Amino acid sequence: MGHPHAVCAEISHGLPQLPVARPDRYGSRAKVLLMTTAIIGTGVLGSVIARLLASGGETVRLSGADQESARKLAGEIGPAAVVAVGNGDAVRGADLVVLALRFAVLRSVVDELAQPLVDRLVVVPSNPLGTDAQGHVSPLLPEGQSSGETVAGWMPAGARLAMAFGTLSADVLESSSKRSPEPAVLFYVTDDHRAGEEAGRLIRTAGFVPVSAGRLDQSGRLEVGGDLHDLVVGSAEARSLTGGA
Ligand SMILES: NC(=O)c1ccc[n+]([C@@H]2O[C@H](COP(=O)([O-])OP(=O)(O)OC[C@H]3O[C@@H](n4cnc5c(N)ncnc54)[C@H](OP(=O)(O)O)[C@@H]3O)[C@@H](O)[C@H]2O)c1
Repeated sequence: MGHPHAVCAEISHGLPQLPVARPDRYGSRAKVLLMTTAIIGTGVLGSVIARLLASGGETVRLSGADQESARKLAGEIGPAAVVAVGNGDAVRGADLVVLALRFAVLRSVVDELAQPLVDRLVVVPSNPLGTDAQGHVSPLLPEGQSSGETVAGWMPAGARLAMAFGTLSADVLESSSKRSPEPAVLFYVTDDHRAGEEAGRLIRTAGFVPVSAGRLDQSGRLEVGGDLHDLVVGSAEARSLTGGA
């Protein structure tokens, strides 16, 4: 992966830490490589993703708008969580990035980060919805325009984008992790083979089975109103729904 993972582990724990493999604990014999994930956005969904990854053994570097929520979350998670100085610091010390942000602020944060996103997996769970002062929810993209392709157009060249972790509400995501006896699926979409493998590793670390729903132009299937949104299913049913995409 070639990113300064060991440096960030030194800052967080006082000891260098290299990626290690461990047996998967929830149904598969596959090995899971543990890395450091930057979570930008420590609100409702980012907090759940951070807890799941930390519980799967990952180190998380947290950054929010004012760092108060990041500090509180890090206190709950313990030594596996580090509060970064800011968004750039979070990403530079990590192997990969989750942008757990509202769609309306996503582009400005991508623009702010830019270069550190290059050569990293960038996971985006955002549904393209906005909420007004009265709490009314409305779409932020014209009908038929995929959020996946839109966000890909904002990314710097060399960033590897996967849309994932936004298919379930945060509480269902948390309660469905490491489901037994049949692990639950998390769907993802990407145009990049390597990003698919990396997103798959992250999804396994969070306690789910990764299933591709195709390319970025299929992101609408994962979102509010999409046929794969809010579905807690096992692998066989997921594959029949995606046709092995
Ligand atoms: N909540 C769910 O159940 C759910 C489920 C599926 C998908 N999603 C998607 O996930 C995304 C996040 O939703 P959410 O419910 O977690 O929203 P949220 O609770 O409002 O959290 C948003 C986070 O973004 C942070 N933030 C805002 N501007 C920032 C900036 N410039 N730099 C860094 N951090 C910034 C906020 O920081 P502060 O904490 O410091 O204010 C907050 O932690 C949305 O796009 C949503 O569609 C959510």
